[in-house]
Amino acid sequence: MTKTVQIDAHTTVPVPGFGAMGMSAFYGQINDDESKATLRKAIEIGCTCWDTSSMYGWGHNEKIIGEVLKEGDNRKKVFLISKFGLKQDGKGGMVVDGSPQNVIDALEQSIKDLGGLYPDAYLLHRVDKNVPIEETVRALDALRKEGKTKYIGLSECSAATLRRASKEAQIDFVEVEYSPFELVMERNGVLEACRELGVKVLAYSPLGRGFLTGRYKKPEDFSLASGDYRAAFPRYTKENFDRNYKIVEELERLASKKGCKSGQLALAWLMAQGDIIIPIPGTKSEKYLLENFAAREINLSAEEVAEIRKVCEENAPVGDRYPESAMHTLDG
Ligand SMILES: NC(=O)c1ccc[n+]([C@@H]2O[C@H](COP(=O)([O-])OP(=O)(O)OC[C@H]3O[C@@H](n4cnc5c(N)ncnc54)[C@H](OP(=O)(O)O)[C@@H]3O)[C@@H](O)[C@H]2O)c1
Repeated sequence: MTKTVQIDAHTTVPVPGFGAMGMSAFYGQINDDESKATLRKAIEIGCTCWDTSSMYGWGHNEKIIGEVLKEGDNRKKVFLISKFGLKQDGKGGMVVDGSPQNVIDALEQSIKDLGGLYPDAYLLHRVDKNVPIEETVRALDALRKEGKTKYIGLSECSAATLRRASKEAQIDFVEVEYSPFELVMERNGVLEACRELGVKVLAYSPLGRGFLTGRYKKPEDFSLASGDYRAAFPRYTKENFDRNYKIVEELERLASKKGCKSGQLALAWLMAQGDIIIPIPGTKSEKYLLENFAAREINLSAEEVAEIRKVCEENAPVGDRYPESAMHTLDG
């Protein structure tokens, strides 16, 4: 049985979706021709729920997506999510800006970068601790009422923030890190609040930033010199890599029993967590796109789902989710 998630009475999206971040930032070398070929292939195979952000290459990601979506009738085929709120501070760092004026300005900029196209969903990338969430959400809801986006949401919010936001307007999406490698949203009340409020969950880094695929076998496989920022993420440093690798071995063991790859097992497991979960694995290559999207053909029994959960719980990761410099941007 292939899988979809129903967003509302009008819209259903295929799962897994697709995350385009690595095509512009954070995970090493980029190649626009290869990325655009992968995006076209995603449309061809029906992997059409895409996630981007204004901060992925500061406009670069939206630009390559816009170029592909403007080809033929591609725009009609894709459900496009973009995000805003993270800005360059001019000193090599980032600031969060959830002010109502920035909601308007950022969407104008995203539309420009997308070549005049509008995103279907527009999400606050990080919660601005200096702006009450109600103000940001009112501004987002106003854009929705003007028809500049159809759906709105928050990324990396706490359950308390989501509940406050939902009193102001219907929140359609929450984007959070969620994978067998990161179950924090099951423990901090976010998943429970999403279920209760009818909010769909965009599960980001569903492959543990690639770690769960078994492709990266030692910390040196992530190199800052070639633009791979995972080298600075505590979970993949020398101190923690080997201890964290146990979960990869365990998933590989279960995947070989099932006749699939460990990354596919991770995605199938996430999709089995409920019909509100949309994993958005990211890749630059057609090869991995095909592999990831094929995870929708894998059906897990209740026993298999429980077995994978046991592996996750017995191999909880060591090290923070983000480098220290980015931890302050997380809510709650
Ligand atoms: N809201 C947020 O704060 C936030 C944060 C992070 C990510 N996101 C979103 O979530 C999306 C996915 O997260 P992510 O990219 O961080 O992590 P991910 O999907 O867990 O992993 C991506 C990494 O895994 C590799 N990969 C993908 N499929 C593979 C396969 N089948 N076999 C081997 N390697 C594979 C990719 O390599 P290649 O690129 O070389 O193909 C890439 O390096 C992003 O693209 C972005 O849209 C959102």
